[in-house]
Amino acid sequence: MDSNKRPESMARITTPELAKAFIDEQVALVREQVGDKKVLLALSGGVDSSVVAALLIKAIGKQLVCVHVNHGLMRKGESEKVIEVFQNQLDANLIYIDATDRFLDKLVDVSDPEEKRKIIGNEFVYVFDEEARKLADDVDFLAQGTIYPDIIESDGVKAHHNVGGLPEELKFELVEPIKLLYKDEVRVIGRELGLPSEMVDRQPFPGPGLGVRCLGAITRDRLAALRESDAILREEFDKAGLADKVWQFFTVVPDFRSTGVRNGKRLFDWPVIIRAVNTVDAMSATVPEIEWSVLKKITDRILAEVPGVCRVLYDITPKPCGTIEWE
Ligand code: XMP
Repeated sequence: MDSNKRPESMARITTPELAKAFIDEQVALVREQVGDKKVLLALSGGVDSSVVAALLIKAIGKQLVCVHVNHGLMRKGESEKVIEVFQNQLDANLIYIDATDRFLDKLVDVSDPEEKRKIIGNEFVYVFDEEARKLADDVDFLAQGTIYPDIIESDGVKAHHNVGGLPEELKFELVEPIKLLYKDEVRVIGRELGLPSEMVDRQPFPGPGLGVRCLGAITRDRLAALRESDAILREEFDKAGLADKVWQFFTVVPDFRSTGVRNGKRLFDWPVIIRAVNTVDAMSATVPEIEWSVLKKITDRILAEVPGVCRVLYDITPKPCGTIEWE
């Protein structure tokens, strides 16, 4: 039987009971596959890698070695959340690598979006590979958060989004406990494993992170403005009850300035663009009609709290023809 094909008899995991049964089954399978050996996992903090981490911690505890690489392009508080949940709450064996300078130095003056994606993806592999080599004598397995759509779409439309790869010559055996699951099932499993909603219900976040939202060549000042404005947007969407109604939302900071005026003085600062979309499959998307009062509150807060920003825009372009991301 092709182990990459979901059997037709496999029931859709929709309830805590079904999730529990799946978890028990996978815990036994992983223990059988791994024995007393160690398993390495790149833990990004996204839904898939977080669920695999929690599942493996349940199965093999400290035999799992999680590596979290902070590429400096995470949203505000995200790396901290990974540490809080996995190190502090689940007592995981977690290696945290702050590679911010390494990534940002490589990206200086690089303005082409695909080039930026390539650099971020490659650098991620180099950093992870270095770590894997240090542990190679000790580790035999590599866990991955592959899910069923990744297998189905691996040569399809999403291929251009794939970043990174495996340290192939290290010859790890793969552990992929959720590879036959759909995203909604992964979330049910994550909830059953006790992961917080911020992780389980997290909106999609591109692999290159804020790197493709800080348009053109990334600079630290615009990256900081992007991170702060994104955090304000998330906070206000949360308060307005929109966070679980809108599929994906974020801010974008372009690489051109605009004129403003503050306290009687003229400025030449950055605009912030708000992007919010609803979609089923990300192939097409519509823009929700956000209440004016919510947009106004977000605008006021960004202008008051984020240094270097003098203008806020709401992008009302559907996909097609505007993609969800700006780059
Ligand atoms: P677009 O911009 O193509 O985005 O309409 C569709 C969905 O894909 C996400 N996206 C990415 N995800 N790496 C990823 O892992 C990427 O390079 C990338 N670019 C876009 C985007 O956030 C949206 O959910």
